[in-house]
Amino acid sequence: MAFRQNHLLGIEPLAPDEITTILDLAETYVDLNRGPEKHAQALKGLTQINMFFENSTRTQASFEIAGLRLGADVMNMAMQASSIKKGETLIDTALTLNAMHPDLLVVRHPHSGAVNLLAEKVNAAVLNAGDGRHEHPTQALLDALTIRRAKGRLHRLTVAICGDIAHSRVARSNIWLLGKMESRIRLVGPPTLIPSGAADWGVEVHHDMAQGLAGADVVMMLRLQRERMDGGFIPSEREYYHRYGLDAAKLGHAAPDAIVMHPGPMNRGVEIDGTIADDINRSVIQEQVEMGVAVRMAAMDLLARHRREMAA
Ligand code: NCD
Repeated sequence: MAFRQNHLLGIEPLAPDEITTILDLAETYVDLNRGPEKHAQALKGLTQINMFFENSTRTQASFEIAGLRLGADVMNMAMQASSIKKGETLIDTALTLNAMHPDLLVVRHPHSGAVNLLAEKVNAAVLNAGDGRHEHPTQALLDALTIRRAKGRLHRLTVAICGDIAHSRVARSNIWLLGKMESRIRLVGPPTLIPSGAADWGVEVHHDMAQGLAGADVVMMLRLQRERMDGGFIPSEREYYHRYGLDAAKLGHAAPDAIVMHPGPMNRGVEIDGTIADDINRSVIQEQVEMGVAVRMAAMDLLARHRREMAA
């Protein structure tokens, strides 16, 4: 199988054939997860430690279930209660854990680049579960699997990524992935929430939803990430919803069979209308969560296989 990575730190280092390998293997895990017997042996005997330095609901639960279904011993470090609070550095914590011989380390951290730094210091395969506004590779992979299943392909699609691009690692990982797979990407949002350099990323930039969504095959909405904002990026939530919130009228500009996506957590009535989010004919938001478990199983399986091959 085409997969040559020691870690999964981002989409940027992956080649298109490696992305396809992950998605193809994930398909087999979708079937396993839908069956009555949800266990496989790919990570049997291995230890997986989840270190989340930032709050997470679905990503942490998803990595935990993925590890358990593949037979790993899974441990969740309570980072809020850990020695980090006592002033220990990220690297010291990592070295301490490293001495316990984990095979897989799943890390989420508020600082961009922190997970790459950590990967240099440990023997385990490190999976980035989101670092600052840098990357969130498993989110982009689960989004890609969801799109591929709905549209039958990843190339030559028009994908509108809308909202708070500036603070979003989900947007950055998706831009890398969709670019590598030769889809056309539009970023849509107010000028304050689109990074000034975005025009150089090989994407179209729109500040108007009607233009940005026109004919789009995929409409991906993002949360306003207030925890990363340090000033007035939007006039008010009401005004934001009026101009950029996805409702039926704005979705009407997209292709008639366009799908609606959101990585969660959602703010209904801010970036998306609740009725659209719940519309099973348009929204694939629950399917994204389902694909998340399968994609994480595939990624950890492939990293474990690669380590075995390297050790042999
Ligand atoms: C995203 C994240 O944490 O980057 N959520 C997620 O992983 N499902 C997006 C967000 O927090 O808005």
